Amino acid sequence: MTRSLSRTDNLIHQFDTVLRTLVPHAAEPSRPSPATDAIRDEELSEEERRHAAGLMRINHTGEVCAQALYQGQGLTATLPEVRDQMEQAAQEEIDHLAWCDARLQELHDRPSLLNPLFYVASFGLGATAGAVGDRISLGFVAATEEQVGHHLENHLVKLPPGDQRSRAVLRQMAVDEAHHAQLAIEAGGARFPAPVKLGMKLMSKVMTKSVYRL
Ligand SMILES: [Fe+2]
Ligand SMILES: [Fe+2]
Repeated sequence: MTRSLSRTDNLIHQFDTVLRTLVPHAAEPSRPSPATDAIRDEELSEEERRHAAGLMRINHTGEVCAQALYQGQGLTATLPEVRDQMEQAAQEEIDHLAWCDARLQELHDRPSLLNPLFYVASFGLGATAGAVGDRISLGFVAATEEQVGHHLENHLVKLPPGDQRSRAVLRQMAVDEAHHAQLAIEAGGARFPAPVKLGMKLMSKVMTKSVYRL
């Protein structure tokens, strides 16, 4: 009885995560957005607004993928410490998700229509990595977080000069992602060889190209 109850609880929890990730404005951050009232944008032209929204949509989808990845890994990871660590990192990713969502709203734009697709794909990747083993799974987290870090740096340069509020969000995200990568390596994550990293880079190119507009 207890076992079937906890299994049901777990299923509800998993489903709740899916909804909070995919339904716009449903994610509740545990930390306030770094884009505080004191940070003001300079006026953005329509072209700049659209460009900033395209970039923030990519970052938002990246966080959707992070949720799915951590959720998939959490399901199949064997070591309880690894599972706990994944859940803690996933909590910080919820902050990122909510901050990007809020910023998209400020820019009068919307999240990507392709998010459910990327959710499913990332969930599958996470669950597979978790099933292969904790070392690989943690290595995958580290490699992903490093890649996200590169994206964020690139976006900080590409954002319109007057967009200070998006910048504030991305700067804090970069700090958090670097920490996630470091934790994963310290916990015993494998360092991925260059060809695997290249494959991941190509996949992220597909994501960024499609999500910028869609
Ligand atoms: Fe994140
Ligand atoms: Fe992260």
